[in-house]
Amino acid sequence: MKQYLAIVLVTLLMTVGYYNVSEDNKSDFEVWITQNNKFYTETEKMYRMEIYYSNKRMIQEHNLRDDVTYKMSENQFMALTHEEFVDLYLQKNVNIPMDKIEVNIPEVQLEGLTAVDWRNYSTVKNQGICHSGYAFSVSNSIEAWYGIMKYQKIYPSTQQIVDCDFNSSGCYGGYNGYAMEYAFRVGLSSNQTYPYVDREQNCKQTRNGTYFISGYSFVGGSQQQLQQSLSKYPVSVGINADNWQFYGSGVFYNCSSNATTHYALAVGFDNESNWIVQNSWGSDWGEKGHIRLYQQNTCGILNYPWQIY
Ligand SMILES: *[C@@H]1O[C@H](CO)[C@@H](O)[C@H](O)[C@H]1NC(C)=O
Ligand SMILES: *[C@@H]1O[C@H](CO)[C@@H](O)[C@H](O)[C@H]1NC(C)=O
Ligand SMILES: *[C@@H]1O[C@H](CO)[C@@H](O)[C@H](O)[C@H]1NC(C)=O
Ligand SMILES: *[C@@H]1O[C@H](CO)[C@@H](O)[C@H](O)[C@H]1NC(C)=O
Ligand SMILES: *[C@@H]1O[C@H](CO)[C@@H](O)[C@H](O)[C@H]1NC(C)=O
Ligand SMILES: *[C@@H]1O[C@H](CO)[C@@H](O)[C@H](O)[C@H]1NC(C)=O
Ligand SMILES: *[C@@H]1O[C@H](CO)[C@@H](O)[C@H](O)[C@H]1NC(C)=O
Ligand SMILES: *[C@@H]1O[C@H](CO)[C@@H](O)[C@H](O)[C@H]1NC(C)=O
Ligand SMILES: *[C@@H]1O[C@H](CO)[C@@H](O)[C@H](O)[C@H]1NC(C)=O
Repeated sequence: MKQYLAIVLVTLLMTVGYYNVSEDNKSDFEVWITQNNKFYTETEKMYRMEIYYSNKRMIQEHNLRDDVTYKMSENQFMALTHEEFVDLYLQKNVNIPMDKIEVNIPEVQLEGLTAVDWRNYSTVKNQGICHSGYAFSVSNSIEAWYGIMKYQKIYPSTQQIVDCDFNSSGCYGGYNGYAMEYAFRVGLSSNQTYPYVDREQNCKQTRNGTYFISGYSFVGGSQQQLQQSLSKYPVSVGINADNWQFYGSGVFYNCSSNATTHYALAVGFDNESNWIVQNSWGSDWGEKGHIRLYQQNTCGILNYPWQIY
């Protein structure tokens, strides 16, 4: 009987992991759990372990390929399936205004290769489990703008946008164009007065904020336009991040759609016209919180770029 149970257990372990789960593999998972402050019930732990090792294997296989321009790496999303990741971190297409529906972007070949990199003018944030990428892309664009234009280091409130931009939907997602309009009309407080809590609250802003912008404009449509805008300072962009779960480093190109499911901050482009984009998934993700995207409209980056002025 004991032997029978042991066989059942071993078979189960082998089925759940697609391969043999050794003690060593198990401890990888335990280490990850500790590092990422996860707490699972025994049943969920088995399930998460299965996903963890399946992702680990997928990453290892990807990184052995020599026909790809980017690496994957293990991160805080290791125990999530692709569906869970999309559900927790990306938003469904929200009500983007009719006059801004995405168009077919022509490919323009550029001469003069230059490069610009503003990544050090804003700090990488972590949105947590709240679809607030649209709010971070706007508050970080204001943070960078103050640094570049006014030589001031500021931390504008992201939570204020999440709670008070009623045209967006708080932690259910939003649109960077609406968040721009809100920041323009009311101004943002500092993150100290209005701290980030990664959930939606009632709007607590009763008067104008402290940090203002003079306006904002749509800078999409072509690579040339976005590059010109980026030569001044960063640009808030709509992006398709469906395949970004395990992006580690290098130039990413593998987006299966151009539909906007996330927002981030374009902070420059390199000497080969790859975009440099700052994300809000913490600095353990990607290249210290950034991703480089292949040129042109990769992941729909040219569809919804808004720049403050
Ligand atoms: C699992 O381990 C057993 C015994 O060590 C070995 O015979 C088998 O080939 C392994 N299976 C896989 C898929 O690695
Ligand atoms: C499991 O761990 C062993 C020993 O560290 C390693 O050789 C093996 O590649 C691991 N398997 C997977 C699929 O990660
Ligand atoms: C940004 O800061 C890092 C660390 O201080 C530094 O290594 C890097 O060269 C800086 N990048 C730019 C473009 O200034
Ligand atoms: C929401 O949209 C309406 C109509 O476009 C606009 O008048 C209003 O200012 C917007 N509110 C915010 C908070 O952006
Ligand atoms: C404000 O943002 C900065 C940069 O991310 C962070 O170091 C600081 O802890 C934040 N302050 C508050 C009160 O959230
Ligand atoms: C600040 O608040 C006043 C009064 O509510 C309002 O009229 C004004 O438009 C607001 N915005 C700025 C940029 O001063
Ligand atoms: C690109 O993404 C798809 C999933 O959408 C995946 O099946 C494929 O292996 C990926 N290709 C590369 C080169 O990463
Ligand atoms: C994204 O848009 C560009 C230009 O409009 C197009 O060439 C590319 O095929 C699109 N990518 C996907 C995955 O639809
Ligand atoms: C871009 O810069 C890298 C080094 O930073 C260099 O290896 C590469 O050749 C450059 N590419 C072009 C097109 O100048």
